[in-house]
Amino acid sequence: MSRIAVVPGSFDPVTLGHLDVIERAAHIFDEIHVLVVHNPDKTALLPIAQRVSLIKDSVAAAGIKGEILVTSWSVGLLVDYCTDVGASVLVKGVRSQVDVAYETPMAIVNRNLAGVETVFMLPDPAHAHVSSSLVRQVASLGGDVSPYVPRAVSDFLQTPK
Ligand code: PNS
Repeated sequence: MSRIAVVPGSFDPVTLGHLDVIERAAHIFDEIHVLVVHNPDKTALLPIAQRVSLIKDSVAAAGIKGEILVTSWSVGLLVDYCTDVGASVLVKGVRSQVDVAYETPMAIVNRNLAGVETVFMLPDPAHAHVSSSLVRQVASLGGDVSPYVPRAVSDFLQTPK
C-alpha cells in the first residue's frame, strides 16, 4: 500500500523553505500531495490557482523526484481531504519553537478529528528565517525576494502586472 503524505499550507507564495520540506518529505513517503489551503487569518497576496501553478513550476525546476501532486482544497476540513485521498499523515515544516507551539494544537485536533498524524519536519537551517509573510512584505515594498523563493516566484513577483 502506498503511503500518502499531505503537505498543507497557504504557500502565499511558496518559499525555498517550503520546497526543502517538500523534497525531504518526498524522500520518506511514496506520494506527496502539496495542498494549498486558504488561511482566513492571513491577507492573501496571490490567488489560490496562481499559488498552485508556482509550486508546480518550482517543484519541476528543482528536479524533486517522486510522486508529487499539487492541488488546492477549499471545502471543509483539511482532514476531509486526507480521508478522501487515503492520506494518514500531514507533514509540517517547523523552523522554531514558535512554529511548534503554533502547529501543536492543530496536530492534536487533526488527530482527534480523523486519526491523521502530523510529522514535524526540520528544514535546512539556511531557511530558518524565511517565511511567506516576510516575502509578501518585501515584495510589496519593491525589495528583492530572490534569495528566499524559487526562481519562478521571484520572476512572477518582479514582473509588472
Ligand atoms: O501556511 P499556513 O498559513 O501556516 O497554513 C495553515 C493551514 C492552511 C494549514 C491551516 O490553517 C489549516 O489546516 N487549515 C484548514 C482548516 C482546518 O481543517 N481546521 C481545523 C483543524 S486545525
